[in-house]
This record gives sequence, C-alpha cells and structure tokens, in this order.
Amino acid sequence: MASASSTRSEAASRASIARTGDAAPSTQVQSGVQVAAPSRREFLYYIWGASIALMLGQVGAGVLWFAFPRFREGEFGGVFAYDPAELPAIGSAPQFVAAGRFHVSNTPAGLLALFGVCTHLGCLPKWAPTNERFECPCHGSKYRANGTWIEGPAPRGLDRFPVTITFTDGSTLETDGSGDPLKLPTDKTIASIGVNTGKKFRGPDHGIV
Ligand code: FES
Repeated sequence: MASASSTRSEAASRASIARTGDAAPSTQVQSGVQVAAPSRREFLYYIWGASIALMLGQVGAGVLWFAFPRFREGEFGGVFAYDPAELPAIGSAPQFVAAGRFHVSNTPAGLLALFGVCTHLGCLPKWAPTNERFECPCHGSKYRANGTWIEGPAPRGLDRFPVTITFTDGSTLETDGSGDPLKLPTDKTIASIGVNTGKKFRGPDHGIV
C-alpha cells in the first residue's frame, strides 16, 4: 500500500511541475554535490601564495611611494623659491626661512642654504648677532656663518641644501656635488633662487673652516 501511495504522490508532484513550469527546487538538484575540503598541502599552498601576494603588494607600494615626489613646491621637502630681493648682503646676518627650515647665508666665499637643525640632537641653533655665529640652545654647539663647526658636541657642521640660481640672461649656477658655497658673479643679475629641501649635503667635518 505504502508503495502505491508514494507512487501516486510522485506522480502528483510531477504533474504539478508540468502544470506550473517550475523547476525542481535547487536544494534537491544540489543536494548531491559534495565539495572536498582542501588537503593540508593545498591549504599550505594557499597560505604561501597569499603571503607572496601580500609581500609583492607591499614592495610595489614601497616602490611607488619612493618613485613619486611626495612634496610640493614651497613645502618642506620640496623646492623653495627664495626672493632674490631678500638676499642678505655679503657678510651680513643670515636670513632664516622658517617654512623651509633653512638659513640663507651670503658669505664672502659664496651663497649657502644651511639646514636649520643642529647635527647633534636636532635642536634649532639660532643666529647670535653679537657673536656672529649660530648657537644651539640645547647643548651649546656653535657654528660659523657658513655652517662649519666651531665647538660643542655636534659631530659636524650644519648640513646644506642645494641651491640653483638663474640669472636674467638665462644662465644658471648650481651647488656642486659637495655642497660648496656658490660664488655669485658680480656682472650678472639674479632672476630667481631655488632651494631644494628634498636633498641634503652632509655638513663639513670638524676642522674645516
Ligand atoms: Fe644642538 Fe645638542 S642639539 S648641541
């Protein structure tokens, strides 16, 4: 009897599907699908692949970070346009450009842009007009107008930024690879001065005047 009843029920179900056009419920179709769990070896491969992808992503992000300039013109780390009209007279007190953290020092030997941070522990030496030198308020290091070391615990003179000077005749003058002062010609007029705070020359060693 049970078999005859079951057969009638299945026939009724098939007739219903035929009338409505509905497909059989998906759970019935998928009920037989089995997904095998990954083996231990496969799992380790997945972890390894994900680690490699993550590492490559970090390396790629690092390359992009260093490949593109992160500083805009006029921001510390970028190039500063320094107004030639502001240029101190030769031998007079250096001028501090706070936004660029540098001193423009026009010495008899030439023009320098000195990084305004002490090479000892990073305090900010100030120009002392009465002594005509930079003096660090933290541990007493002293530097000449050209940034060379005089005394104190600083391991070297003040670091320097490269300077590019463009003259009205179109010619240019740039700081050389050692960061030496730029000797300004007397027969030319300066059109613009650029100080690149994105690049730094190591300050002179002790004993260099
Ligand atoms: Fe300038 Fe120490 S930080 S002397």
